[in-house]
Amino acid sequence: MPTTPDPTRPMRPEDIERERSDWRAFYSKWEGTPGAELLEGFTEGGRLQEEEFRDLFRRHGHFEGKRVLEVGFGIGVLARLLRDEFPVASYVGIELTEASVANIQSESFPDSFRFEVCPAEEVGDRFPPKCFDIAVLHAVAHHFVDPATCFRSIAKVTRELLALEPNRSHPFRRYLERKVNALPNQPVETSYTLREWRGFLSAPGRQVRFSFTPYRLLPANVLNWRGLRWVPRPLIHWALKLDRRLVRVPPLRRFSYYLLLRAVYED
Ligand SMILES: C[S@@+](CC[C@H](N)C(=O)[O-])C[C@H]1O[C@@H](n2cnc3c(N)ncnc32)[C@H](O)[C@@H]1O
Repeated sequence: MPTTPDPTRPMRPEDIERERSDWRAFYSKWEGTPGAELLEGFTEGGRLQEEEFRDLFRRHGHFEGKRVLEVGFGIGVLARLLRDEFPVASYVGIELTEASVANIQSESFPDSFRFEVCPAEEVGDRFPPKCFDIAVLHAVAHHFVDPATCFRSIAKVTRELLALEPNRSHPFRRYLERKVNALPNQPVETSYTLREWRGFLSAPGRQVRFSFTPYRLLPANVLNWRGLRWVPRPLIHWALKLDRRLVRVPPLRRFSYYLLLRAVYED
């Protein structure tokens, strides 16, 4: 059973190995499947979530003309968005496993796009200092076994960082997530407070800004839950619409925002 890592504890090789083997198993199931098809295999809840984070990238990314590093490209949603909609100068996506690289490479990308196996912990030694304008992470940092080491390593190679994370800072949400994460076969997922995020990202010469954008009350794993298969689709759509309205109500927003972490690293 995975334990929730303690952010103050030094990185342990067995945690890292467990994290990698979880993701290896996940992507190997799909090996050779193009990212877009892999996405189709996801549930309704997964696809809606994808639209939402595409929207966040459109509004907050400012990727045009930049050399972009994506840490944890997963099934390639952002890579495809950049290929299709933003004239980036170049893109390098890194991931933990060969299987995820094999999946994305079964699609066609311009020569300025590269995908590599490289854990975030090692990116600082793999690439020349400050060779990227922006590093972007979506729903990745809460999987880091040792976030401080990962962010230090990323900061070596980029001038700016944008990380998007579901809200994990509210004590009730944290409590729920710790319970869910205690279930067997969960990948490493850790909740952090804003203060902890700031601690991982900030050091002399770095500016860190948080912003929040309304998201949804129902976490994706609730909508993806197999037990909801019997619910008619129109009802799910209606529930989602209501959910999006409810998140705009101030007291409920506390449970429902998406956190955007932006850090600027000076030379
Ligand atoms: C929830 S998925 C998100 C994937 C993708 N960013 C997306 O939004 O669809 C988290 C991803 O982070 C990757 N990951 C976890 N720890 C990592 C690390 N130390 N270095 C690089 N990638 C990592 C995992 O392999 C996984 O693909």
